[in-house]
Amino acid sequence: MKHEILEKNIGLMALVMILAVSIGGLTQIVPLFFQDVTNEPVEGLKPYNALQLEGRDIYIREGCVGCHSQMIRPFRAETERYGHYSVAGESVWDHPFLWGSKRTGPDLARVGGRYSDEWHRAHLYNPRNVVPESKMPAYPWLVESTLDGQDTAKKMSALRTLGVPYSDEDIAGAGDAVKGKSEMDALVAYLQVLGTAVKNKR
Ligand code: HEC
Repeated sequence: MKHEILEKNIGLMALVMILAVSIGGLTQIVPLFFQDVTNEPVEGLKPYNALQLEGRDIYIREGCVGCHSQMIRPFRAETERYGHYSVAGESVWDHPFLWGSKRTGPDLARVGGRYSDEWHRAHLYNPRNVVPESKMPAYPWLVESTLDGQDTAKKMSALRTLGVPYSDEDIAGAGDAVKGKSEMDALVAYLQVLGTAVKNKR
């Protein structure tokens, strides 16, 4: 009988449904905020150095995330192709994370060390130079643009307030570490470190 009251009052029904779904959702989501497996960095994870960090910003600026995910799912087809599936502890210092969802190109979560620096340079300059059938756009201007390093230290301090463990020395030396390097140097440095904290079981 009590159930009949519920079924005949749509407002009450909606309220109770929201309550039930919220409890169900919260019991799944809230514990994740407190578990080491989602909060703690994986063993051996290092924060991006100054050059890699600048490279990451170029990756964001150029919209690479619009075609490349950085999230290997725990499926056989993906781990066979890309290596160990992605774990949360690899992205704890990524603000914002770049997992992405569009996969026009391959996943890049473990691309670090897969190719030489020279391969990446040739590929980014014009992908058709190394992969004739490639649909990826060319980024030739990265070679000509030079970093001045003016904001690098500020970016690192900002990340430190979010919990990225940069030391005072890291921050003090950041500007000099990138000054004069090309955007290509920075982007390649970033690509080469992607996914290297977890052993690549490919
Ligand atoms: C329009 C979609 C598109 C955009 C934007 C794009 N890519 Fe690609 N990318 C591809 C495709 C398609 C491939 C596969 C063919 C190839 O290797 O060129 C690829 C391949 C790659 C590879 C080789 C991956 C592997 O495992 O073989 C790397 C590295 C890469 N892209 C990096 C980048 C970076 C860095 C940017 C941003 C500067 C970028 N891509 C932007 C489509 C894109």
